[in-house]
Amino acid sequence: MKTAIYPGSFDPVTNGHLDIIKRAATMFDKLIVVVLINPFKNYSFTIPERVKLLSTVTENIRNVEIDSYDGLLADYFKDRPEIDVIVKGLRATSDFEYEFQMAHTNKDLNPRAETVFIPASATTTFISSSMVKQVAMFGGDLSNYVPAEIHGEISAKLTAEFAEKKRLADIKRNQ
Ligand code: COA
Repeated sequence: MKTAIYPGSFDPVTNGHLDIIKRAATMFDKLIVVVLINPFKNYSFTIPERVKLLSTVTENIRNVEIDSYDGLLADYFKDRPEIDVIVKGLRATSDFEYEFQMAHTNKDLNPRAETVFIPASATTTFISSSMVKQVAMFGGDLSNYVPAEIHGEISAKLTAEFAEKKRLADIKRNQ
């Protein structure tokens, strides 16, 4: 039985992530999608919210498990000896340097932690969570970027975040 782990921030999950999840789920017996923290990022969604969105969009893929962890990926890997490999998506050459560095760091921290890369499908190479968030904040059409069943939750969260940002900017301007 081969088990892979697909780590990421998923803030929020997009059609690009789902493309990788669906394809990886056909390559491995089990795929664990784990929400992790990049301490240099500002997140819009809480970890439970990101887990819930991921659970909703993967509920029909029987061999996918969703989890979260607030430590190093290499340590999560150590805690779960049944995991064989880390899966990451590559959208463009611009992703490569960062992903290469992460793959080497993870292997350095845990020599068992090998990474395999799956090229993103051509239709999703331009999608990113930040781009989705920006479109949602301005009330744009999300249909090509995130699964329909989570449009409502994403739009509600981000339009509220944007309204709050505008309110704080107005207060600052009027001081
Ligand atoms: N299609 C579309 N978009 C994709 C994608 C795909 N296949 N794969 C990644 N992306 C996008 C994401 O949406 C995200 O967009 P954003 O920058 O606009 O938010 C971007 O690519 C980066 O995604 P991700 O791979 O999730 O990187 P990250 O920097 O957000 O998170 C972690 C990386 C969380 C996996 C990493 O920081 C980590 O492992 N953290 C735990 C601590 C640790 O072990 N650190 C040391 C690792 S070296």
